[in-house]
Amino acid sequence: MSRDYYIAGNWKMHKTRAEAVDLATKLVAELADGSHKYLIAPSFTSLEAVALIVKGTRIRLGAQNCASEEQGAHTGEVSVLQLKDVGVQTIILGHSERRHIYKEDDALINKKLLLALKHGFEIILCVGELLEERESGKAEAVCERQIVEGLKGVPAADLDRIVIAYEPVWAIGTGKTATPEDADAIHAYIRNLIGKLYGNEAAKKIIIQYGGSVKPENAAELMAKENIDGALVGGAALKAESFVAIAKFKAS
Ligand code: PGA
Repeated sequence: MSRDYYIAGNWKMHKTRAEAVDLATKLVAELADGSHKYLIAPSFTSLEAVALIVKGTRIRLGAQNCASEEQGAHTGEVSVLQLKDVGVQTIILGHSERRHIYKEDDALINKKLLLALKHGFEIILCVGELLEERESGKAEAVCERQIVEGLKGVPAADLDRIVIAYEPVWAIGTGKTATPEDADAIHAYIRNLIGKLYGNEAAKKIIIQYGGSVKPENAAELMAKENIDGALVGGAALKAESFVAIAKFKAS
């Protein structure tokens, strides 16, 4: 495959600073000889501490969200300026927990994405359908809407800083994984859509991660699929052993 694999760990609302530092330290040591692109996204409170550990290593530092405004009277929000200040390189946007628990819509996610791009970040844009949407045959349409709306106003020149993560909501944290075939079919659909929006070269280059109960046991078979270029890992990213096993999957 011409695209590099990209394995990202989303730590969600887990870990104190000491725990985050401990995990990051282990990952830096164990992935020093890894051959893919890696990222970890701790909570905001641990970003600065983890930044010191991953700086200059092959592990990128990610944030799990950002505010849609640059700065100002926005109690409880965290700005792109503050994220840049602590060394964040990538921002995860549109995660299903943000969409469905915190009611972020496509327009808000798009606003955040444009702001993050303006400030030089890489973005992992998460998309994915709910179980009822899948069961009623709407999985592709939902992903298409989330991508078209999420990328509105993004020029082709910036597409190399966009990663898409396909995460079927019914597979997140549930232990249910999409079959590699089902996941690959949506990934192919997404790649084709990027081709329609940005041309064939962009479609070939864009990294599309899969997320939703990725574990050491299923990583290699997911990654073996033509259109799956990596993983966005939640639960299994919380322990060095399981994240490293996924990050060092053996291509089959
Ligand atoms: P999971 O989470 O690996 O625990 O299913 C994935 C995600 O939410 O990014």
